[in-house]
Amino acid sequence: MNEPCGWDPSQYAQFDAPRLRPAIELLNRVVHPGPAIVHDLGTGRGEMARAMADRWPSAEVTGSDLSPEMLTEAATVPSRVSWEIGDVRNWQPDRGHDVIYSNAVLHWVDDHAELLPRLVSYLNPGGVLAIQMPLSWHEPSHQLMRATLATGGPGGSPLGDPALRQRYERPPVESPGWYHTILEPHVTELDIWETRYFQILDGPEPVYEWVSGTALRPILESLQGSELGRFVEVYRSALQEAYPSRPDETTIYPFARLFIVATR
Ligand SMILES: C[S@@+](CC[C@H](N)C(=O)[O-])C[C@H]1O[C@@H](n2cnc3c(N)ncnc32)[C@H](O)[C@@H]1O
Repeated sequence: MNEPCGWDPSQYAQFDAPRLRPAIELLNRVVHPGPAIVHDLGTGRGEMARAMADRWPSAEVTGSDLSPEMLTEAATVPSRVSWEIGDVRNWQPDRGHDVIYSNAVLHWVDDHAELLPRLVSYLNPGGVLAIQMPLSWHEPSHQLMRATLATGGPGGSPLGDPALRQRYERPPVESPGWYHTILEPHVTELDIWETRYFQILDGPEPVYEWVSGTALRPILESLQGSELGRFVEVYRSALQEAYPSRPDETTIYPFARLFIVATR
């Protein structure tokens, strides 16, 4: 099972626009005539929970997250959302929900074959489960991350302990067909699609900054001393080669995401 890692709201907030675009696109695909109970699982800084509270003014909206830092940040913006500390893996609501929404969270959690049908079972009839997960496994940024960890760069040796390397050994997100197969028996409507975003990022080394806020976090938290120094040096240099800065100082970072909207 993936162990949770720490989250830094300000690091994560650096790329608000490209990160929020898929979240909004996911919410726009949720069709419900009037949800009463809505939950944002892994709400982070709470933008989407607040958006749902605005979109459905009579709904009771809760945002939960494992990270106290993220929830503290979420609560700094006045809203009528209730914030809760909680782990998706053992979330068990005591009443039926009309919308369960989770953007860019479930790739941190194992055993989707058990989890996703269970989340559907928490929906009232006509309720909607809406999920978005990054498909970054095959992007050079993530391939280079694994390669650097496995080899330590040219002439190097594996970095970190086996448990850390194991964490990066298999993709956290399955294929669209796999999700269709596990969800289809439990729902009345199922819409699954992928979008590849052609992201144009500003600033020096923006891809390193991007992954530092997400996929790189377990590595940065686990490696120490010279191993950490080696990783950062080799990985940053490989990223600069894979994602060169353009003359206008922007960098193109293509990024694919998987979307699932399931209606019970
Ligand atoms: C990439 S952020 C996404 C935040 C928010 N959903 C958004 O779209 O901006 C991932 C969030 O998932 C939370 N998270 C990771 N594992 C979790 C778990 N097992 N249970 C609850 N939250 C979790 C993290 O604390 C973090 O806030």
